[in-house]
Amino acid sequence: MNDFDWAAMADMLELEGETHSPYVRQAFEEFGQLNPRRVLDIGSGPGVAACRLAALFPQAEVTAVDGSPELLARAEERADRLAVRLRTRVAEFPEGLADLGPADLVWSGQVVHHVGDQQGALNRLAGLLEPGGVLAIVEGGLPPRWLPRDLGFGRPGLHARLDVAMSERFDRMRTELPGSVAVVEDWPAMLRAAGLTDARSRTFLVDHPAPLADGPRRFARQSLERQRTVLADLLDAEDLATLDRLLDPADPAGVDRRPDLFLLTAKTVHYGSRPERDGD
Ligand SMILES: C[S@@+](CC[C@H](N)C(=O)[O-])C[C@H]1O[C@@H](n2cnc3c(N)ncnc32)[C@H](O)[C@@H]1O
Repeated sequence: MNDFDWAAMADMLELEGETHSPYVRQAFEEFGQLNPRRVLDIGSGPGVAACRLAALFPQAEVTAVDGSPELLARAEERADRLAVRLRTRVAEFPEGLADLGPADLVWSGQVVHHVGDQQGALNRLAGLLEPGGVLAIVEGGLPPRWLPRDLGFGRPGLHARLDVAMSERFDRMRTELPGSVAVVEDWPAMLRAAGLTDARSRTFLVDHPAPLADGPRRFARQSLERQRTVLADLLDAEDLATLDRLLDPADPAGVDRRPDLFLLTAKTVHYGSRPERDGD
């Protein structure tokens, strides 16, 4: 695993999953009449999507797979709470994927970009599928918007500068991954290169208008706190001061209290199917 402290991000990952969950439900509708016997959620984190898969396919054996035992413990607690049947399995990607299959449905949300060789990772994920099985990965989409362009203080356009800084950090993260390979991130083409057919992408809007409910508002705070920390060397002093003010719990213009906070983002899911007979 790379240098992310995933276990420390458990609360944020669970809150993110819950805040984004309408898109997961919509993305699952694309599975149509699929009636899987085995389902894998690769890089499940705290299991928000995995528990939804378990609820959607109660007849199936659904397994949440992740490199972090702490996050899988969260997934188990969540499954107990929601009374769904979920297995968990600790595995490091990509090498630990080899002995997980076969499965009729493999879901992997926001994980492949954390593996150095993304095409290699897709090849392995595709290799887990039974003939006729479906692989769905979440990659790309659009960065989140929480605030108006002019938020009342600081230099207007903070989000645009956060996007640039996050993109630079992302690029650095990818370059430093072990075995990092540059690839044109044309996900449907990469799914086809992994031997899958019917490769397609669908993008789902995540739209929580103002005023935000408690959960999405807490997620906004945690996201901006994280950006304040990880982008400290990429933003200028004025933008850092703006973030500090936004994160001040006593400030009426801060994210805990301002009435205009919203969440608008988009998630893209790329689907591919293993042919019923190889060579089809
Ligand atoms: C960004 S989180 C995504 C969580 C969830 N799938 C979602 O969409 O919200 C990435 C997850 O992948 C796991 N992960 C990342 N790189 C990994 C690796 N090389 N081996 C095993 N797990 C990994 C992390 O532990 C984390 O739970």
